[in-house]
Amino acid sequence: MKVYLGIDVGTSGTKTLAMREDGKILATVTIEYPLSSPKPGWSEQNPSDWWNATVKSVPKVLKKGKIKPGNVAGIGLSGQMHGSVFLDKKHQVIRPAILWNDQRTAEECEQIESAAGGRSKLIRMVANPALTGFTAPKILWLKNNEPRNYEKTVQVLLPKDYIRFLLTNEFATEVSDASGTLLLDVKKRKWSTKLLNLLELDKSILPKVYESEDVTGVLTKQAAKKMGLPEGVPVVGGAGDQAAGAVGNGIVKRGVISATMGTSGVVFAHSDEVQIDPQGRVHTFCHAVRGKWHVMGVVLSAGGSLQWYRNQLAEREVTAAKKKKIDPYELITEQASQAPAGSEGLFFLTYLTGERTPHADPDARASWIGLSLRHGRNHMIRSVMEGSTYAMRDCLEIIKEMEIPVREIRLSGGGARSEFWKQMQADIYGQKVSVTNAEEGPAYGVALLAAAGTGAYKNVVEACTATISNISSTPANRKNKSLYNRYYPEYQRLYQSLKEDYKIISGLVNS
Ligand code: XUL
Repeated sequence: MKVYLGIDVGTSGTKTLAMREDGKILATVTIEYPLSSPKPGWSEQNPSDWWNATVKSVPKVLKKGKIKPGNVAGIGLSGQMHGSVFLDKKHQVIRPAILWNDQRTAEECEQIESAAGGRSKLIRMVANPALTGFTAPKILWLKNNEPRNYEKTVQVLLPKDYIRFLLTNEFATEVSDASGTLLLDVKKRKWSTKLLNLLELDKSILPKVYESEDVTGVLTKQAAKKMGLPEGVPVVGGAGDQAAGAVGNGIVKRGVISATMGTSGVVFAHSDEVQIDPQGRVHTFCHAVRGKWHVMGVVLSAGGSLQWYRNQLAEREVTAAKKKKIDPYELITEQASQAPAGSEGLFFLTYLTGERTPHADPDARASWIGLSLRHGRNHMIRSVMEGSTYAMRDCLEIIKEMEIPVREIRLSGGGARSEFWKQMQADIYGQKVSVTNAEEGPAYGVALLAAAGTGAYKNVVEACTATISNISSTPANRKNKSLYNRYYPEYQRLYQSLKEDYKIISGLVNS
């Protein structure tokens, strides 16, 4: 049977997955690499680390899955979005890549907005406002701050597209990842000549844009040899990690939404038309489904807040879990379940790393509010979980406000692995949530795109229908749902009351 590889160039590592034509996963291998922060708020990686991880992981996956190289019929690429790889005329990397979570470009975001004639005109042009993590501000940052590097730049690539270049010798991208550059006319699914002209950027620095299922090139002899694969294996467009993860979870139809609670949290909705939030609180990007779009809200610290609690305040549980050989989160969530819904009035605002949706506020900070003598660890943990889930509800509410139907919510990430957190999500979102048989995220999504794009399925929707189904569902508890409906508006008010103080605090710390 034919085999498809999905390669996800993530922030903490590259994950390579091998999938049989019928959707069965044969093997996965992840190879990690470091992230560097040369200055506060900066986040960079060396693109050669991604390439080395790719080249190492493919033969390992073939070996682990006992796969004959000749059976590999297609490769799909996914990756961290928005990052920028700058190449010179010899196609060498000029400087470390600037990543999605880098915050250095506030001035360039303002520059872009004013060049476009204001925020709403910019949103009309490229469907989104300028955010510090996006790619276009990074290109302008290079121009403003490292002019000699900018002069040398002949091509700017997204992380997975740099790997594509080394695999196929083609400069190419696809619509879902290109949307996150801020340079794509998201409605027309092609580069926005208008914005490029206003920013005085030459279109030739950008790669050719394909639909996500399309074949963008084939493995060169050199790359094939390095990885133990035959020359000529087709490489499809693939997708940015969020769209790829959504495909891997079957979010390819109107009405089906995903809520992924990883370190960050993402609420992702498929859309048949381009639907734009005029306030720019959620992103509108092209989907990896041909001719379709998606809307998504990103919570920067969702599961990340519980992780912070584990690392900083749960030494006792971590030691006990080690002894019992269990995951410390089991003990931590067990404690949370001892506190009542609503944590007896203790609220946690989850903005440990500022916030994207809905506030777009890098100065926002996390806070516990409402502590009293009655509160103990159980309440504190529960409130952290509730706070992250309220933040996800913020994204969901905007999606509903945009009249995108929310008939089914599929959970994934760490928040889908705990029965307790699944129930809490159903109660806070106020409707039934479900979990599918597909747990491998973006790498699985792009393996499906590779299968669809090379003819194993008619298209990616058919590939998802054939391979992904729900395995469990959790209805909301009526009593808790109504309690959370009363608590949620207060959660929303707290940010509004505190946002000026967060700015002052940030000023104090940075002065
Ligand atoms: C999406 C986003 C992250 C990165 C890193 O907008 O910023 O999901 O793609 O995973």
